[in-house]
Amino acid sequence: MKKYKKPFTKKLFSHNDLNGSLTSLEELKDIPFRFKRIFFIYNTKNDKQRGNHANRNSEFFLICISGSCKIKYYYNNSFNEVILDNPNIGLYLPKLIWKEMYNFSKDSILLVFTNTLYDDKEYIRNFEEYLIEVNR
Ligand code: TYD
Repeated sequence: MKKYKKPFTKKLFSHNDLNGSLTSLEELKDIPFRFKRIFFIYNTKNDKQRGNHANRNSEFFLICISGSCKIKYYYNNSFNEVILDNPNIGLYLPKLIWKEMYNFSKDSILLVFTNTLYDDKEYIRNFEEYLIEVNR
């Protein structure tokens, strides 16, 4: 098996005062890549899943800026689960990581940064195919 970059969670800078909270993040410091695209996932039904794919070229940094959701990802021959329920926690997922997002709360907004422009051809949408490709 090839050596792949490791997923990690990162606590982001946040400032809290009597007025409320502010969180900031910086390219190449908190997010370990230059981002070309941002998208956000919201209005997701609690019993629905998103994701269920891996990307050959895209790496991701995910922050649940409102509400909560769970992310399951496959790394090093096993599935791991992360709960994102605080806007000051980011999850980094390198390329070639199978990911599933689910358990979205009603108010959930999942903000995602990535290093690529959208390209459907870089997606692997079948888990068996993914395992073959990742173990090549
Ligand atoms: P998809 O990746 O299938 O969403 P999920 O895996 O989270 O269920 O994307 C849904 C649709 O949106 C699909 O037609 C591709 C399109 N899309 C874009 O055009 N640009 C993007 O940045 C993303 C993430 C998706």
